Amino acid sequence: MKIYSLYTDMMKQTHILIAGATGSGKSVVINSLIGTALTKSAKEVGFILIDPKRVELVEYTKLPHTLYYASEPDDMVNALAYAMELCDSRYKAMQAAGVKKYQGSHVYVIIDELADLMTTDKKRVMPLIQRLCQVGRAAGISVIAATQCPLATVIPTPIKVNFDSIVALHTVSAQHSRNIMDATGCEKLPRYGKAYYITPDRREIVNVPMVTDEERAEVIEYWVDAYKAAKAEEAARAARAAAAIEHAARALEARRSAARREADRKATPAPKPRKNLLQRLFA
Ligand SMILES: Nc1ncnc2c1ncn2[C@@H]1O[C@H](COP(=O)(O)OP(=O)(O)O)[C@@H](O)[C@H]1O
Ligand SMILES: [Mg+2]
Repeated sequence: MKIYSLYTDMMKQTHILIAGATGSGKSVVINSLIGTALTKSAKEVGFILIDPKRVELVEYTKLPHTLYYASEPDDMVNALAYAMELCDSRYKAMQAAGVKKYQGSHVYVIIDELADLMTTDKKRVMPLIQRLCQVGRAAGISVIAATQCPLATVIPTPIKVNFDSIVALHTVSAQHSRNIMDATGCEKLPRYGKAYYITPDRREIVNVPMVTDEERAEVIEYWVDAYKAAKAEEAARAARAAAAIEHAARALEARRSAARREADRKATPAPKPRKNLLQRLFA
């Protein structure tokens, strides 16, 4: 119960930075967060997935929730630009409606790993992430990023300060721990399974539960099936509508041709019966 509520609590944070050494469980945390988000439908929750490693998030492309998946260098920048455009269009909609908070699906921009993304094109990537973090909240757009390399050169402070919550997993050195959370301690955490969870009003060591591959596959399958069923229902509805339209069209055509026949009948002058015939008949 406590386990589930940890991730639920994390999902309430706006932007989450997950940092730690290789094998400390960053991808485990990302998968668990996605799993928690997947208690909601694609109407309520969407994902923009950036996956430089090309393996971690690819399974989720099957989901109806996934708006964009990128793993190629240029495409990853496109994915960020796409998120930014979404953000801008939401701001326009909010302005038009005169509201301060976007009322609609929550979109998570998920990056596994941020360090790899930064090294592909830091000049373009950095301002996009920074801006997304700054304006995303009101537009219902969150950034969840994992990074193995917390060095200041890779994840500069202007980026780091935008994350209001940090999951600090095991690090190989006290210096890495300081880079992540401005304090030592991560180096003393077990290799995986525990983390410092830091939010604006909390800092505590928490257990990090793991979602297995099987559990993940099950959740994905559930939504793929649900989506298929919804699509089939949609197709059936469309077929029914098409049949109804065709029926109406046929009825209309039938009425038209009846009217046409009637009009023809009226327009055609009736042959004048010959007098002698009449006389013969009614004599
Ligand atoms: N919280 C956890 N509970 C159990 N095993 C874990 C946990 N975190 C990580 N592991 C183990 O460590 C492996 C590597 O975790 P992963 O999330 O891929 O690390 P990272 O992304 O930080 O490199 C996992 O496949 C799993 O076997
Ligand atoms: Mg990983």
